[in-house]
Amino acid sequence: MRPERYSIKSGTVALIRIRPISSIRNLLYMRSEEYNMRVFSISSQKGGTAKTTTTAALATGATHRGLRTLCIDLDPQGSLTTILRGRPEEGNSYRLLKGQRVKPQTETGVDTYIIPAALELAGLDAELANTPGRDNRLRNALEAYKEEFDLVFIDTAPTLGTLLINALTASTDVIIPVQADMFASQSLYQLKGTIDQVRQFCNPELRVAGVLFTRYSARTTLARSMWEKTYNMAEEKLGYHCFRHPIREGVAAKEAQTLRVPLIRYSPKSNPCQDYEKALDEIIGG
Ligand SMILES: Nc1ncnc2c1ncn2[C@@H]1O[C@H](COP(=O)(O)OP(=O)(O)OP(=O)(O)O)[C@@H](O)[C@H]1O
Ligand SMILES: [Mg+2]
Repeated sequence: MRPERYSIKSGTVALIRIRPISSIRNLLYMRSEEYNMRVFSISSQKGGTAKTTTTAALATGATHRGLRTLCIDLDPQGSLTTILRGRPEEGNSYRLLKGQRVKPQTETGVDTYIIPAALELAGLDAELANTPGRDNRLRNALEAYKEEFDLVFIDTAPTLGTLLINALTASTDVIIPVQADMFASQSLYQLKGTIDQVRQFCNPELRVAGVLFTRYSARTTLARSMWEKTYNMAEEKLGYHCFRHPIREGVAAKEAQTLRVPLIRYSPKSNPCQDYEKALDEIIGG
């Protein structure tokens, strides 16, 4: 279940945990230096680009590598909550944003923790209108979890509003899932506008960890050429790193969600799972 060796790359983060002999499963981990919790928003203002699938796969994959991982479902649709078997009635991200302390949940057999979504999130924009400091609420709330978790993954809705701004303000990094289609460039430019605003007014430290191509089907020439075109555009025109490997389509991704089982456990050899593992290698080290 836990990694042989990993390190978290970039910034001030330098966490190295070493387990030299895999059979000694319960050896204490060595923590080499002070580290900060890294917070990833998985965001795109376009719907259906695999934000939720990506959040679940990266978070459960990171847990599998031994990282203490928390997911926050900030999308009123609550798909991530369903996939990770969250129980909103016991605590949720709406309450978190309203200033309450929420205990992260985990389902037996699934070690990834979650703070579920609640329907009330949908009304938060109106509720917090003209409230001072409304964009910093999640950032402030996450302070309480710094000692408990190494990584946080925030699933966001495909809309611009308080929830997305809160997510980006609370994050060290943003991962942008896009599909290699004719809307990819447009959605990247849209999110860039939001990222630029957040950097200017709320969170100057926000990094773009990368553009991640999702639901990729190499069989079609169109997808291949759209991937290349968008990849080059993102790197050259926007200056955004792109993950080297796209996430391929695979029925296992849907099946794992339907069964509410982490992809890494359901089908570790499936194309999407292997691709998400490569993406994890890029963000937290192989
Ligand atoms: N690699 C994949 N292979 C096959 N199906 C996938 C893959 N990734 C995502 N899907 C499917 O695509 C659909 C959309 O994915 P998902 O719900 O993650 O997108 P989203 O960006 O979170 O959507 P929304 O904007 O509505 O929140 C889902 O049915 C999901 O199962
Ligand atoms: Mg979603």
